[in-house]
Amino acid sequence: MQTSAAARIEPTPVEDDDKILNINIYLADGSHFRREAIAGLRLLDLLRMYGFPVKAECGGACVCGTCHIRIPERWQNVLPPPTDEELAKLDDIPTADESSRLACQIETTDEMDGFEFVIQPDSLVPQTYWVAG
Ligand code: FES
Repeated sequence: MQTSAAARIEPTPVEDDDKILNINIYLADGSHFRREAIAGLRLLDLLRMYGFPVKAECGGACVCGTCHIRIPERWQNVLPPPTDEELAKLDDIPTADESSRLACQIETTDEMDGFEFVIQPDSLVPQTYWVAG
């Protein structure tokens, strides 16, 4: 079976001077995955690159709310505040709270080494078995 080029997320080539960031990804059940990234990568694309089954039904256009994540308080100050568009979409998610953000609206920066976030169950494709790469 052949997949379309649009469906594949290719890793960004790493340059010699790129800082490697360790990003800590959690599931609501406490499962923990540490994955490497570089600055300039949307968290949604990071999740897709490593095989996390995030719904992200709109493909990252900030219209579906199915890339819902939560950011621990200690990391919220390294992120730019959500835009009005992101806040409006978060308002539509019944389980969202003050720590909620959309993975498609956050881009990694060099200040995010060690960053942590939790993928919300409502944004994962229901599967009985999956392996994050
Ligand atoms: S992927 Fe649809 S809002 Fe983020």
